[in-house]
Amino acid sequence: MRMVSLYHCRPGMRLAKSIFSVDGRVLLAKDMELTDTLIRKLEECGVTYVYIQDPLFDDVQAEPTIPDELSAQAVNTIRQLFQMQAQTFQNHIAWNKLVRELENVFESVYREILQNQHTMFCLNQIYTYDAYLYKHCYQVGVYAMVMAVQLGFPKEKVREIALGSFLHDIGKLCIPREIINKPGRLTPQEYEEVQRHTVYGYDILRQKRSFPLLSAHIALQHHERLDGSGYPRKLKGDEIHEYAKMVAVADVYDALTSRRSYRKALLPSVAMEWLYAGSGRQFETRYLAAFRNAIVLYPVGLTVKLSTGERAVVVDNNTSAPQRPIVRIFEDAEGRAVVPYELDLSKALTVQITQVEI
Ligand SMILES: [Fe+2]
Repeated sequence: MRMVSLYHCRPGMRLAKSIFSVDGRVLLAKDMELTDTLIRKLEECGVTYVYIQDPLFDDVQAEPTIPDELSAQAVNTIRQLFQMQAQTFQNHIAWNKLVRELENVFESVYREILQNQHTMFCLNQIYTYDAYLYKHCYQVGVYAMVMAVQLGFPKEKVREIALGSFLHDIGKLCIPREIINKPGRLTPQEYEEVQRHTVYGYDILRQKRSFPLLSAHIALQHHERLDGSGYPRKLKGDEIHEYAKMVAVADVYDALTSRRSYRKALLPSVAMEWLYAGSGRQFETRYLAAFRNAIVLYPVGLTVKLSTGERAVVVDNNTSAPQRPIVRIFEDAEGRAVVPYELDLSKALTVQITQVEI
């Protein structure tokens, strides 16, 4: 399989991975042949890239660390919780039932993370754009869990971090949609309103008896920054709870690597550099390090250009050298197809990745 931006998709190409809709259902199944109409439909749904089948890379599998079905179920549970909270009539029994479902999600994801502790972590499920908020909350939860496991936190703490992260942006329900989805620059008043999602979220979660209070603090503090430049209370250093400091890293990473209405998605390697620019000032260095060591920086299936001028596809990652994956070269510097061969960039130290194509 190979990652291809929708712009480069042509009729006749076949999907190598399913695409999911907001309710966790498969929208387009693996093996489906793309047509002009389908490509246009995907564009309308906000899908920017897909995985396609390619005989040169048939053996290359970009398996996510967590099975797609489990992630889809998790995103759907988070969506249901958000939507229930948005209703004026509050049904506590139904809410508690969904929180129990979320705890089951935590248990399953936790098991997967423990089993894959020594491989590099990757989430690459493709969703339609309307799933963004729920997918974001889910992925932030998973990334924060990965960090906590890396740092050797006991299960109970990982559980508190997961539950709080899965619902960290629930306060956004209280912000007018026009402001949340505004493509342009926010006015100072609008920005102030957006910042309140932290307080709204905390107020919602702290009132739920079935929800851990420390997890509710993640909603309140996930935009605070070490140097006091965050919000809503401009807390500094140790005034910020450790859970919120971890979720801040996961939150910004996931936002940067997702496509938004006002900018393209950044690649993991670029997003990580961006985060490191705030190391020690905005984000705590040890959480950045734990995270960077655990995640895939160059996803399998990605097309890259090398400093030699050749083009290649990432086929595997090196746990000990996350910056230097194994690539399969398929085109020489003059743009001519070559018999594909593999190069381990952790051994060929003079060759660099200079560009990524997506
Ligand atoms: Fe937020």
